Formats: sequence, structure tokens, C-alpha cells
Amino acid sequence: MTALTLSSSDAATLRADVLVVGVAKGPDGPVPASGSEAVAEAFDGGLATVLETLGATGAEGETTKLPVSGLKAPLVLAVGLGPVPGDGEEYDAEALRRAAGSAARALNGTRKAGFALPLASAEAVAAVAEGALLGAYAFTAYKSDDAKAGKGKGAKKGAGKGPLGEVALLGAKALGKAAKTAVERAVALAEEMNRARDLVNTPPNDLYPESFAAVATAAGKEHGLKVTVTDDKALLKGGFGGLTGVGQGAAHGPRLVKLAYTHPKAEKSLAFVGKGITYDSGGISLKPAGHNETMKCDMAGAAAVFAAVITAARLGLKVNVTGWLALAENMPSGTATRPGDVLRMYGGKTVEVLNTDAEGRLVLADAIVKASEEKPDAIVDVATLTGAMVVALGNRTFGVMGNDDAFRTAVHELAEEAGEPAWPMPFPEELRKGLDSSVADMANVGGRMGGGMAAGVFLNEFVGEGITWAHLDIAGPAFNEAGPFGYTPKGATGSAVRTLVSLAERTAAGELG
Ligand code: BES
Ligand code: MN
Ligand code: ZN
Repeated sequence: MTALTLSSSDAATLRADVLVVGVAKGPDGPVPASGSEAVAEAFDGGLATVLETLGATGAEGETTKLPVSGLKAPLVLAVGLGPVPGDGEEYDAEALRRAAGSAARALNGTRKAGFALPLASAEAVAAVAEGALLGAYAFTAYKSDDAKAGKGKGAKKGAGKGPLGEVALLGAKALGKAAKTAVERAVALAEEMNRARDLVNTPPNDLYPESFAAVATAAGKEHGLKVTVTDDKALLKGGFGGLTGVGQGAAHGPRLVKLAYTHPKAEKSLAFVGKGITYDSGGISLKPAGHNETMKCDMAGAAAVFAAVITAARLGLKVNVTGWLALAENMPSGTATRPGDVLRMYGGKTVEVLNTDAEGRLVLADAIVKASEEKPDAIVDVATLTGAMVVALGNRTFGVMGNDDAFRTAVHELAEEAGEPAWPMPFPEELRKGLDSSVADMANVGGRMGGGMAAGVFLNEFVGEGITWAHLDIAGPAFNEAGPFGYTPKGATGSAVRTLVSLAERTAAGELG
């Protein structure tokens, strides 16, 4: 993991391999941002001209490397910040996060970098810290050591150079305790987001319900959480028909993991429920080839919940947070649930399984009923639930649904503020009827239209009476199949962790409900 320091040096005196400066997109070309003064001086005031000559515009995500003399670092990396902010305005947090992330990615293999970005406030410092740590992330656990070091047989040029070693945030020390606290939060958050990314990226032959539960147990204990694992036998005996039904076709049995973080002075309690399908083949309603290569990502909701609960504990938030990980592997076999089977869910409701590929809602239903028994002030579930939500909102935005408009709006707004694009989706009344079954209380699928919202309508039936609930469908943003951008790598993204942590913080501060 990349080390981070708040530095009192400036760009002229810091010994580093590279100095990162910001450059904004002005109406007449690139505009070096504040923080770049010492570097600009080394170019005799001609930095903007040199950058322009090199083709730099200041556009978001753009990186330009240029050698420099007269400083204690031999190289400058100019990173685009996007448009120059309006008069008297600071760069917004997301612009800084993305620029720091793009810079960190471009510096793969570098030992030490000084970040001389515009750091006018503690919030700005935290955004740069977060972006740098998230951007430096690389998943190399399955690369052989030679390939990791960028040499030897099979090593591609530039591949596996290892992440940026150290980031010094220049001038951040002068901002005092506020900056220190904000950076500590950013470090905890980014480390846990990266942990969630690791889990999602881990191939499904190594990450299955039992091994995920073991990771959660170890980390939970380390951070003082109470961890309870219910195994396949106990789930069957306990009447968890959803988890049992989805998991019964696989060689690896299902698990329900409960992670409880409690604060002695907490006044509110939150339950986070995560979909943890460690591999989604579709089951007997098998997915066609081309639709299953990335389905190790189907436990991204559980990974986000896990990371968020650990972060809440690390930050010592004054709120009780319980995480529920609904873990199962969805496989076809002679013991698998058949389309046409009826499952009796935890709590007694019966569900006719018409499509075994609509499995997420089945494991979530059990976990939501279980979570409801403790009467939390709110339940938020997070799930890579439907392809329909990806069709509706694209690859970078998650859908927010729920049973309380004010809460849904609050979750949507704090997601956006945390840097996670989200959008509210309704529960049109006709969708509930679409889930009617001729043999059971409900079917697990309805018509094709509005599939993302229908999944939400299904889950709504399992939320305990009077409990405020929101549902985040992260099927789009959880896993980035396109190229990296900003602080988002290819593969697992850590989607929804920041939204959940922010929700816990606001609840702890008494700002919600
Ligand atoms: N895990 C998938 C949803 C998904 C799709 C996640 C794309 C990530 C990327 C889910 O279990 C699923 O298969 N949903 C079906 C539901 C349908 C059978 C009603 C879908 O979206 O096609
Ligand atoms: Mn599925
Ligand atoms: Zn799934």
C-alpha cells in the first residue's frame, strides 16, 4: 500500500522522484494551478507555454511528463484538473480526487512523488489523499513475482511495475490538525475500499462463501467487531430458504455473516445488507457465454458492506452498524434449485423461482428479514442486482430505491457528495402485480420491463414493518470493464463503500432521521 505523508516542504526543497502539479483548462490554453509556483519558477515563468507545446490542455485525466532542472526532483508530472473554477471558488473535491488518481496511475513504479496540487483546505487535502491512494491501487496477487517486477518471462513492458511507493502532500502540514484528521479518514476509507476491490477481483475459485466468511471473521476480530457466521447446515435448519436454495447447486455451501460494530454512546443503529454471490453462473437458467466472465463481481455488495462496517469501526463512529453478508455461489448441478421450485424464505414467505438467475433477491430476502428482527433505524442493501439497472443508468451510476422518499433522497444526495454518481428510481405500482405467482406468495421475476425496479419491489416485501429502507443497485458501477479513469481502475471499483460510510457518519452526527 502506498504510504502517505503530510509534508511541510515545498516543491523547491522536497527530495522526490517526481513532482505532481495541477494544470487547469483555461479559455486560452493550459493554466498551471496553485501549488505549482516553485515548479513554474524553475521554468522561468514559461511553464504554461512548455505545457502547451507538449500538447497539454488541462483537460481532466490528462497527464504530461516533463524534465526539470534546479529542483530536488528531476521530473514533473502535470495532471489535468478540468475547467478553471469560478472566481473565488476552489476546485471541487471530485476534480481533485480524479486528478490525484490519474497522477498516481501514471506514476506506477515510481518510488516517491511530491503532490504539489492546489491544497487550500483540509477537504482538498483529504480529496487528494483519497484519490492518490485509490488511483495507486493495483491487483497483482495472481501475477508471478517476475511479472510483478516487470522483468522475466511473460512480463509485458510496463506491466506489473508495482504501485507508487510514497506520496508527500506538499504544504498540507501547514493546514494543521483539521488536515491531519481529514487525511486519517481518507486513509482508512481508501484502504478499506481497496480491500473491497481485492475481494471482488479475487477469482471465484479462491473466493467462495466459506473463504469470504473467513476473511470477514479475521478482519472483524482485528477491529473489535462481533462476527457471527451461520453455515450451510445451520441455514437449512434455520429456515433460510433463499440462501439455501441459491447455494444448494454448488460444491461450496452458502454462509450468512453478521458483523456488528457497536459504540457505547450510539443513539442510532444501521443495518447494511450485501449481496454476496461469489460466482453467478445463472444456475439452471444458465447465463450464455459472454455474460459470465465477470460474474465474480456479484459479491461486490457484500464486499462494500464489509468494508463500510470496518471503516465505521476504524473511525470510531458514534452509531451502531451491523453488516449482513448474504454469501452463496450460484451454480447449476443435479442438486441445484430448478425453475419451478418453491422456496420458503426466512420468515415464512414462499417464492416460486421462475428464473434461477434472479438469485440475488433470494439471498437478500433472507438477510433483510433477519436484519429486520433487530429493528434497526434503517436498512440499506447493496447489490449487483440487475442488468436492467445498467441498461437504465449506464456503467457509472447506481440506482437508489426505497420505501421512504426522504431517506432515498438523502442517500442519493450523500452518494453524489461522496463522489459516487447515483440516481433515484421509482416503484411503479404495476410492478408488484407482475410478481404474482399462481402457486406461491410471489414469483422471483416478473416481466422484462422495469426489471431493476421490479427487483426492488420484490425486496420491499421482506423489509420489516415500519423500518426505513433503501436499496442500491450497483450492477453498473461495481466492476469497470472499460479502461481506468481518474481514481477508478479496471476491474473492481469499491462502489458504494463511500456512500455507506458517509451515511454512517451523518447518522452518527444526528443529521439523519
Ligand atoms: N448478477 C446479475 C446482475 C448483473 C448483471 C450484475 C450485469 C452485474 C452486471 C443478476 O443476478 C442477474 O442475473 N440478473 C438478471 C435478472 C433477470 C433474470 C430477471 C438480469 O439482470 O438479467
Ligand atoms: Mn443472476
Ligand atoms: Zn447475480
